[in-house]
Amino acid sequence: MLRSLSAASEDLSGKRVIVRCDLNVPLKDGEITDDGRIRASLPTIKRLSDAGAKVIVVSHLGRPEGAPDEKYSLAPVATRLEQLLGQPVVFAADTVGAQAKAATKLLDNGGVVLLENLRFNPGEASKDDAERQAFAEQLAAYGDLLVSNGFGVVHRKQASVYELAKLLPSYAGDLVELEVSVLERLTDNAERPYTVVLGGAKVSDKLGVIEHLLPRVDKIVIGGGMVFTVLAAQGHDVAGSLLETDQLEVVRNFFAQAAELGVEIVLPTDIVVASGFSADADHETVSVDQIANTRFGASGMGLDIGPESGSRFAEVVSSSKTVFWNGPMGVFEFANFASGTRAVAQALTEVQGLAVVGGGDSAAAVRALGFDEASFGHISTGGGASLEYLEGKSLPGLEVLND
Ligand code: 3PG
Repeated sequence: MLRSLSAASEDLSGKRVIVRCDLNVPLKDGEITDDGRIRASLPTIKRLSDAGAKVIVVSHLGRPEGAPDEKYSLAPVATRLEQLLGQPVVFAADTVGAQAKAATKLLDNGGVVLLENLRFNPGEASKDDAERQAFAEQLAAYGDLLVSNGFGVVHRKQASVYELAKLLPSYAGDLVELEVSVLERLTDNAERPYTVVLGGAKVSDKLGVIEHLLPRVDKIVIGGGMVFTVLAAQGHDVAGSLLETDQLEVVRNFFAQAAELGVEIVLPTDIVVASGFSADADHETVSVDQIANTRFGASGMGLDIGPESGSRFAEVVSSSKTVFWNGPMGVFEFANFASGTRAVAQALTEVQGLAVVGGGDSAAAVRALGFDEASFGHISTGGGASLEYLEGKSLPGLEVLND
């Protein structure tokens, strides 16, 4: 059982509470393009501040190599957090340096400070246990307790996620509690029919989850870049589309397994093939057996599922009682290739049951395409974390919060 903040009887007033968040948001030219993870972190930060705690927010952003790197600074996040919280957020431009030490010391009850990107310190993501332990000890000096609220990073054995939780009394924050409760509903006694929709670029990233889900679901719908490897495994010529040739045999084994278990694999019947990878690329919609026969020849690349497939996928999704969706159906960032992703997203809003959007790209897609977040059962902040949970893996950042 997770030790949760909501069930803890700690008097938080005046306590120094470190909150490990996942504020790893996408940035473009220093601007936050999707603030979903910041907003998802707010309830716990607010709750602690309202209870009179001295709140020390810590996070990573991107994958800097253990040293400061301006393009991964959390400074823009501090500004956004301050706007969303509606109260001042002090930003310390280091992690265990002079600024962080001073800012954490000067905190008033209810005050909030955000430290700079934890991964600017080599100890955070080090492979060496002792190095991570040493960094965690430095961080632990700031707090009386830790609230672990960065669901998106609980699959990483990193200093602030794992070692720090062992050094201080630690609790799962509201976001971690919520995410785990939803994922539990997807793994234990999910209502049937249960459909999983997988997309995104790489089939190899999704193999674990397919394997684990096959005995648990009724249908697996596949689109996105990964579908071309699946179509190739069925003997189709996919021309210049994304293809992982080393996965063809594995995919064929999945088909055999699915047939044995009575799981239906739903694949596209038509594809939008483009002349190249760009927003204004010339394009043509053809059936799956004609991908190599467009006017673009062998260089044509599939960038979206076609309208017939979009309707079929939507029908399968909206008639299910439980749906988990990870990965866009096409290059939704380009308007010409967003229809498949839009059709699936729309269908998820119509599910009479539990519809979960999991993973950074799909979550960003529903927001970018203008859907109201409230019309989905749940939008997970975890990409890798939710997939690894569904793969049945043990996640270090949750393990450490279990009694
Ligand atoms: C994510 O974006 O999935 C999380 O923030 C974890 O980031 P990471 O994959 O760089 O550890």
